[in-house]
This record gives sequence, C-alpha cells and structure tokens, in this order.
Amino acid sequence: MSIIQRAFLLILCALNIQHGQKCRLNTRKHFGEPLPVIVRDNKLLEPTDKFGNIDMNYGDILTLSCEGTGNILHPNAKHELPVATISCEGGAMFKNEVWLNSPANFSLFKCNYPPRYVSKRTERLCYDGYPIIEVGYTVRNDFYPLYESCFNEAGYSAIYSKYTQKPYNALYQTKIVRPFFIADNNFGYIPVDFLFSPAGQKGAVAQLVGSAIDNYVTKTEFLSRGHLAAKTDFPLAFGERATFHYVNCAPQWVGFNGGNWNTLEVDLRNHIHIAGYNTIIYTGTFGLAQLNNEVGRRVDLYLYNDENNNPVIPVPLFFYKVVYEPTRKCGIAFVGINNPYYTIQEARQMFFCKDLCRADRAFPWLSWHPDNNNEGYTFCCTVSDFRKTVPHLPPFEVDCLLT
Ligand SMILES: *[C@@H]1O[C@H](CO)[C@@H](O)[C@H](O)[C@H]1NC(C)=O
Repeated sequence: MSIIQRAFLLILCALNIQHGQKCRLNTRKHFGEPLPVIVRDNKLLEPTDKFGNIDMNYGDILTLSCEGTGNILHPNAKHELPVATISCEGGAMFKNEVWLNSPANFSLFKCNYPPRYVSKRTERLCYDGYPIIEVGYTVRNDFYPLYESCFNEAGYSAIYSKYTQKPYNALYQTKIVRPFFIADNNFGYIPVDFLFSPAGQKGAVAQLVGSAIDNYVTKTEFLSRGHLAAKTDFPLAFGERATFHYVNCAPQWVGFNGGNWNTLEVDLRNHIHIAGYNTIIYTGTFGLAQLNNEVGRRVDLYLYNDENNNPVIPVPLFFYKVVYEPTRKCGIAFVGINNPYYTIQEARQMFFCKDLCRADRAFPWLSWHPDNNNEGYTFCCTVSDFRKTVPHLPPFEVDCLLT
C-alpha cells in the first residue's frame, strides 16, 4: 500500500468514526401506527427526496410527540413520555440515552391513540375579509401548521384549503385509519356532524325540495363529507389524519367524490411525482348547487338555517383545484360540477372558460371522464380565466400553463 493510499484510508476511517452512519427512513416502510407527530428542524417532518425517503446524518434530531392523547410507546423506553427527542444512530436506529435503554428501531415508535390535531384562527385574512384558519399540531406550546383554510365564519363554509404538493406526495404512508371529522369550535352551536349524516342531510334537503327528495338523496347518491385537501395529499399519518376537519370539508355528491374528483386527486399526485413539480394547491368551492323542488322550481341547497334564519353550510356548485408552481410561475385550474342531476347541456352552460383539458392531448395524464354526470362534469381553465369567475384566490403571477 502506498503512502497516499494509507493516508486516504486513514482519512476515511476518521470520517467514519466522527460521523458514523446516516439514517434513511421511508414513508412506505418505517412509519408505525398510530404514528406520533414528528418535528424536524422546527417543521413537521417531510421526505427529503421524491421517493418518500427521509435522509438524515448521524446525530440529527427528531422530536416525537403524542402530547394530549398519551405517551410514546416503544419496547426500549425506560419510562413513559408524551414528547421526546431521538437522534440518528444509523439506518433506521435512533438513540436517546436517558429515555431508551439501547438504540431503538424507528418503526416501533407509536402513540396509545392518534395525536390530536387542532385548528388555530389566525389574524391573517383571505378572500372577502374571511379569516385564515390553520390546521396542525401543538407540540410543547409551539403550533406546527399543515395547511390553511380560508373559512367563511358567517356562512359556515370552507372557501378553499391551501397546502403544498411535491413529488414525494405520491408515496404517502398507507393504511391509515380514517378518524371522524372534527369541528373544533369553528361551528359554534351548528350540529355539523348530524347535518352531514344520512338522516341529517336528507331532512335538510327535504325541507327545500319537499316530496321530490326521494329522487335526489338515495341509497347510491347522497352528500358525502368532501375533503378539500385530500387525506392522501399528506405523506405521513399525522398529516393525513389532520385533513378530517370541517374547515377542510364541504357537502359533495358521493358519485363525484369517488368519481372524477378522486381521479383528479390521484392523477395529479402521480403527475406531480413524475414531472417533479413543487406546487402550491388551492382546493376550494364556489357557487350553489340547485335542485328542482316538488313544484319544479329551482332552489339553492344548504344544510341548515342559523339562528337568524339565514341559510348556512351551502352545497357548492363547483369544486376546484388551482395548481401553481411558483418557481416557473405556471398554473392551471381544474373544476368539477357538484350536481349529478344536471343534463350535459345544462352542465355545458355552466362551464365558465374555454376547456383546455378537452382541446388536444395537452393533458394525457388526466384520466377523468368529463361528460359523466354521475362522476361529475369537469373542465379546466387558465388561472386568469378562472379568476374572471371565481374571485377567491390571493394575487400571484402566472406566466405559463401548468401541463
Ligand atoms: C424494526 O421493526 C420492524 C417492525 O416490527 C421490523 O419489520 C424490522 O425488521 C425491525 N428492524 C430491525 C433492524 O430490527
């Protein structure tokens, strides 16, 4: 061995001793359930590459929290703690010499119960002076947001949810149990759980359409709790669960929910993964769905009348998803009609822009069925066309079409 080779080997050894091993966790492999909330560098944990890997150096720190619903469980824990930090020891092994009796397998960190997500009303305003409500987790008195909702507090209606979608989102953690939706003091005395239930919504719509109700709310077609930010728009369990919040929800016909809207969510996640986009998404609602009442007159749909007898919790006519890539300033708006009882001719009258998704094959990745009433009629617009009809979005510059 030459001197140079020896010196090189020595340097390699020294580096190894100082820095030890790196850690790599993957969203599909290493995350237990119920997963604690995980904080890294003062932010909720997110993957570091497009394949759902979280790469860390030896000694890098994660904070785990089950605060509010119990303690962190692990076979190596010497005692119970609601919040603890662990440091990367190599591979998927982590240590904390005070709390754990030996380096611990990351996959085995769990909570007794899923940690509790909360909403936080901010001082920031969005469209029409409505407040922005953040949804996320509190850990040791610090609040960590996952997404924000522009929420109409008088009408009890979610205008839009804003969050990010990155290439790693296609590799979300699977098999997460769906929690119940929470209202979390954003709905006051309004019985929102009941109003979305089968009996509650049927009663509410029946008050508006009378005996025509059995044509509309049936075993196969009814109003579901339509997520704005989808459950699997977040890569880890704590994010997926936090979408079950009524400030992120609107009444959505179930055929549309499981049809073209779901197709859009899935296709978009996969496309963002393949194309490598870093996007901001605004998923929202606009307009009022209508049905004919028993004497054939069109009526607006709401789920409740408030104490001043004003209609609240509207059934929106449109669900939309505006996707924006800030680095290239590219954007697009996808829109679906939330009413299976319109004919294709009636629906076409409601398309409020030139439908770019129908034109040529500019969107080969999009597999929705735009002319299917049950799956929901759909179309898409440039962001500037979209803004001419829907006034919700905050200002941002769009110079190109996101395809
Ligand atoms: C860690 O725990 C998981 C889940 O029980 C198991 O599949 C895996 O083999 C364990 N890894 C090690 C290094 O013990």
